[in-house]
Parts: sequence; C-alpha cells; structure tokens
Amino acid sequence: MQKIKIAPSILSADFARLGEEVRAVDEAGADYIHIDVMDGHFVPNLTFGPPVIESIRSYTKKPFDVHLMINPAVQYLKDYVTAGADMITVHVEADIHLHRSIQVIHDLGKKAGVSLNPSTDESVLINVLDDIDLILVMSVNPGFDGQSFITSQLGKISRIRKMIEDRSIELMVDGGIKPSNIANAVKAGADAFVAGSAVFGGNDYVASIKSLRDAAC
Ligand code: DX5
Ligand code: ZN
Repeated sequence: MQKIKIAPSILSADFARLGEEVRAVDEAGADYIHIDVMDGHFVPNLTFGPPVIESIRSYTKKPFDVHLMINPAVQYLKDYVTAGADMITVHVEADIHLHRSIQVIHDLGKKAGVSLNPSTDESVLINVLDDIDLILVMSVNPGFDGQSFITSQLGKISRIRKMIEDRSIELMVDGGIKPSNIANAVKAGADAFVAGSAVFGGNDYVASIKSLRDAAC
C-alpha cells in the first residue's frame, strides 16, 4: 500500500480554538498542518499572517506546510520561517521571480514548494524542477474551502507525475478532496493531499482522516 500524506487545512478549523484544533488533527494522524495564507489581493479572501502562525506553533511538532496565496511573497518569506514554517509554497502566478523565491526559502533552510492555479499550464515548472521539494496542484480556484474538485486537474497531475521522473518531489493536491475522489488523484500520481472541509467538517477527526486514507488505496 502506497503511503500517502494528509495535510488538514486549518482554513476550515474553528478559528476561536485554533491551537486546540491544530493539536486535535495532530493527534488524529495528520502528517502536516496546512496553513492557507491569503492577502485579499491575490485571492479574494483574507486569513492569517506570521503572528497567528507563531501563536499555534507550540501546539504540534508536525511540519507546518505554509501555502502562501499572497502577492508579493518574497519579502515576507523570512517572517514565515521565523513564525515556524517548515515548508513554504509560493504560487507561480504571484511570483515574478519564482526561482529567486525558491532560493530564498532554501537559504532559510526550509523546503520549497510551487503551486499552480487550475488554469495554469504545468510547463511553467520545467525550469525549476531540479530546485523544488513540492508541487501543489490547485484543484479549486484558491480563496475558499468547501469548493468542488475540478476534474480537469487529474490530467495535469498525471502529466506532472511524468515530468518529475525520479526526482524526490512531493506531488500534493489542494481543493475539494473527499473520500469519494481521493483515489482518482492517487491514480493520477499524487502522493499528498490537503483536506479542509473533509477533515474539519465532522466532529471525529480520527475518523475523517482514516476515511481519506482508506479511500485512497
Ligand atoms: C483554498 C485552500 C485550500 C482549502 C481546502 O484556497 O488552498 O487549502 O482550504 O479546503 P477544502 O478541502 O475544503 O477544499
Ligand atoms: Zn491550501
């Protein structure tokens, strides 16, 4: 059985109890804590920045997977690392100097990811494939949780899986992942999954993470 990673997105958590929510998904078996940072400019929603991330850092030892939906991003990377990020993903659509941002993240000693919106062609990855640790395929238009999975992204996932060849790059999918569709994304070649509403939407986080893992194989 293939070992997949599940990254609950705290965008769907109860913000009034954010630290406890992080601890709860950690204890329920999350591999990463996915943190959606939105600026109300690159995406039509606003969430949290470094001080909030720092305030929840002590609630888990699991890696903080920080998904930056902000433009510009490069001048804030250090702040997110200081706040506790272990992996930082930037959007190719938001970053004019993508290669520089990847270098900055690595110089700060962290893993670098790049994300593609649903309408973005995967060819933008060709020149950074040797420099990245993670590719995040958006299977919804970024900005909100609880949206439906855009099935055209399955083809993109399989094309990216081929492009990766034997490089050790994690291929993560973000948006609309449920027990009913996760197997299709696994078949296409994804090995890590963000899940917001599918995890935080119910009361039993152990059960919701388990049902994603069970459905994946
Ligand atoms: C959307 C975010 C996602 C979102 C996922 O912009 O990047 O991480 O929270 O939520 P669900 O799983 O509910 O689509
Ligand atoms: Zn995300």
